[in-house]
Amino acid sequence: MIFQVDDVLKPEQVAQARQLLEKAEWVDGKATAGHQATRFKNNQQVPENHPIGKQIGEMILAALGQNQLFITAALPSKVSPPLFNRYQGGETYGTHVDNAIRQIPGTAQRMRTDISATLFLASPDEYDGGELMIEDTFGVHNVKLPAGHMILYPSGSLHQVKPVTRGARLASFFWIQSMVREDSQRTVLLDLDLAIQRLNKDYPEHPSAVQLIGVYHNLLQRWAEV
Ligand code: NI
Repeated sequence: MIFQVDDVLKPEQVAQARQLLEKAEWVDGKATAGHQATRFKNNQQVPENHPIGKQIGEMILAALGQNQLFITAALPSKVSPPLFNRYQGGETYGTHVDNAIRQIPGTAQRMRTDISATLFLASPDEYDGGELMIEDTFGVHNVKLPAGHMILYPSGSLHQVKPVTRGARLASFFWIQSMVREDSQRTVLLDLDLAIQRLNKDYPEHPSAVQLIGVYHNLLQRWAEV
């Protein structure tokens, strides 16, 4: 499923991140691309171990830890340290899928990439092009969100970033290993969770809510790995 989470960062946090990123070092984005992807990747990134990237990354991880909608949708088990990219002057990233397994930088640990996340740090009116195009069974989705908003999508889906023809597109990107590996199962759990939340709001203390929460937890117990 493709899922949007609004206002992950507050406007003042976006401003702070951008101020810091201006002082960061930017290198060729091919550094983190998988073998097949280096041919299509044409952008810039802050190096993985850069202190400014780490500082903003910690702010993003703290915000995610308090974001109930993100937790509900992703059921995160591991989140990779956020990275940062910039596209300008026609830069682009052609159609690819993300590597299925990633080494967590600075550790011997590896993680499965179930979900890819892009957190937009530039406002759509600052640049032309730069849409994140994601393909799924319903067709092609063009994503270009306000600064501070985030899109989640299955890491195995074909996606690309269209050329940026004016201005600069700034974003943070990272991966999530979910407690529930299968996208279709996460979709069922999210639908059920959101329906229970609506039921609780519209009909407080309706007896069916407890039963449905029971169904949710029984499915989670079958499908989740911790
Ligand atoms: Ni990608």
